[in-house]
Amino acid sequence: MFDLTGKTALVTGAGSPRGIGRSVALALAGLGAKVYVGDINLQGAKQVAQEIINKGGEAKAGKLDITSAEDRARVLKDIYASWVKLDILANIAGITQPVTVLNTTEEDFDRIISVNLKGTFFLTKDALPKMIENGYGRVVNMSSVSAKRGGGVFGGAHYSAAKAGILAFSKALSREVAHHGITVNSVAPGLAATDIRGGLEGPEEQAKMSADIPCKRLATTEEIAAAVCYLASEEAGYITGEEIDINGGSHMD
Ligand SMILES: NC(=O)c1ccc[n+]([C@@H]2O[C@H](COP(=O)([O-])OP(=O)(O)OC[C@H]3O[C@@H](n4cnc5c(N)ncnc54)[C@H](O)[C@@H]3O)[C@@H](O)[C@H]2O)c1
Repeated sequence: MFDLTGKTALVTGAGSPRGIGRSVALALAGLGAKVYVGDINLQGAKQVAQEIINKGGEAKAGKLDITSAEDRARVLKDIYASWVKLDILANIAGITQPVTVLNTTEEDFDRIISVNLKGTFFLTKDALPKMIENGYGRVVNMSSVSAKRGGGVFGGAHYSAAKAGILAFSKALSREVAHHGITVNSVAPGLAATDIRGGLEGPEEQAKMSADIPCKRLATTEEIAAAVCYLASEEAGYITGEEIDINGGSHMD
């Protein structure tokens, strides 16, 4: 079960040292996939690729700003030149901003929508032709519990809207491409202690943030990565347009 030997993967936002993308990249590589570590932070991406190589896996790193058409084209070209195909696209890159609607500027809105939603949309679009040609693909998109419960601890309404847009985009696209052997799903995590808010929370802050979560703790990035790996596996081939909630019970549909 869940053997990704021979599969190739692109993970975006995978260059953050404590981030979800890094855990996804390591987990996919641990299952045998060749992993392209993409991030706007090239140094961070290189470090994660090296970690994979040090563990005996195969990885490459490249600077990838998902909002840049040029970056997207260069990275996909690099992947096809090295590995011919792309089987798995894990769209993990994202940014947030804790701000009320009244304090949100148009620039804030455009930045949050552009990275979280537009970047994911167009990287997926760019990757699709090759997946269609191969008759196989696994797209896993990163949403958030804040898409479903209306806001969260660290995101403004623009962030919630972008993450809800990811869910709708995934469902709509899944209908278009399922007959090509391509599935499109999302994960919707609750809080994990990463650098997305600008730094790791200390034990006291984490305890405060956990108080209302039935599991009484934050998610680990490995728990989120495990769900991504499942959706990226061949075994999940009959699941599409779905999302997996990973929120310790803080929101139940
Ligand atoms: N941490 C949480 O509690 C949480 C909860 C739900 C959803 N998420 C989502 O998970 C994803 C990963 O977040 P994280 O918590 O690991 O944060 P993180 O800040 O540790 O990692 C995000 C990574 O995305 C990269 N990035 C930012 N803009 C980019 C761009 N334009 N192109 C390419 N890469 C870019 C950053 O350089 C960084 O390496 C995000 O989409 C976030 O919204 C996080």
